[in-house]
Amino acid sequence: MKKLGMVGWRGMVGSVLMQRMQEENDFAQVEPHFFSTSSAGGAGPQLNGKATPALKDANSIDALKGMDVIISCQGGDYTNEIFPKLRASGWDGYWIDAASALRMKDDAVIILDPVNRNVIDAALARGVKNYIGGNCTNSILLMGVGGLFREGLVEWVSSMTYQAASGGGANHMRELLKGMGVIHSAVASELATPASAILDIDRKVAASIREDVPTEFFGAPLAGGLIPWIDAQLENGQSKEEWKGQAEVNKILGNTTPIPVDGLCVRIGAMRCHSLALTLKLKRDLPLAEIEQIIKSGNDWVKWVPNERAISVKELTPASITGGLQVGVGRVRKLNLGPEYLSAFVIGDQLLWGAAEPLRRMLRIVLE
Ligand code: HSE
Repeated sequence: MKKLGMVGWRGMVGSVLMQRMQEENDFAQVEPHFFSTSSAGGAGPQLNGKATPALKDANSIDALKGMDVIISCQGGDYTNEIFPKLRASGWDGYWIDAASALRMKDDAVIILDPVNRNVIDAALARGVKNYIGGNCTNSILLMGVGGLFREGLVEWVSSMTYQAASGGGANHMRELLKGMGVIHSAVASELATPASAILDIDRKVAASIREDVPTEFFGAPLAGGLIPWIDAQLENGQSKEEWKGQAEVNKILGNTTPIPVDGLCVRIGAMRCHSLALTLKLKRDLPLAEIEQIIKSGNDWVKWVPNERAISVKELTPASITGGLQVGVGRVRKLNLGPEYLSAFVIGDQLLWGAAEPLRRMLRIVLE
């Protein structure tokens, strides 16, 4: 049985991954070893009620070297620190990582197997050992409309995103909720009084957002608003999150001629569902019924939502999608811009397909 090392399994992405791996009985296929950067020697987690061996030291190259496969959700700093040393020590196992640190390296593949199993298989055949989860927004984009890319129909895509707090991390989610509470507290008594004037409430809310909503983690108030910038600023005016769109989508697909992907990435007050409003320029004018079939055929997790008001506001929302593996695709229609111009709204759980799920599926592929 292959030895699997789990690093960073207690963080947010790691916890979602642990839950999914137990649901899918993944740990029964391997000999699992749990690592810790801070509490080596402590008790390992219970897996389906069974104890695991004591925690190993995640900073020990010797301990890591004993593994056949390592899955890390420990973050980019850990990867940058440990991975080069581990490879330099001669370790030849599979490194499966949620962090972006190695994503664009030539000897790494971005994993999203329902979309790029062919790229993964070709890499395995030529001995590639580094398999890295994609940026959440791009993974959700491709899980949603990958069928159109697979059929070679996409000339370009403009992707305007609405990204959830979870993309920042657990602290960011807490900050969003605290901010919501602060705003509500500022006007709780007026809200309880139907006769109170809405513009007075609004004035207090605006002051609360400007002055009292916590901003430690997001750097700006998210509750009751939005933040039109995600990640670092690049020289060309893109945010790093926006830059990743074209770079990663084309790498995931293994394209030699890149398809242009660009748009603005915006943080909104959703908890863990990222959404994308897409404009796609298709290479040819196809009937909508055919487009629907192609999108639905993309993978088993596409949840097609007809472009009708009642079902869209019910099914194509964070409330409907959160916590599940289905990726909603709807609002698909031809735009006034011309018959090859298509809109689509894609929504997925950022912690599942956007982070944890591709990692556990890659483990299964390695074990095949
Ligand atoms: N960078 C993403 C975000 C999450 O901030 O929403 C990681 O893919």
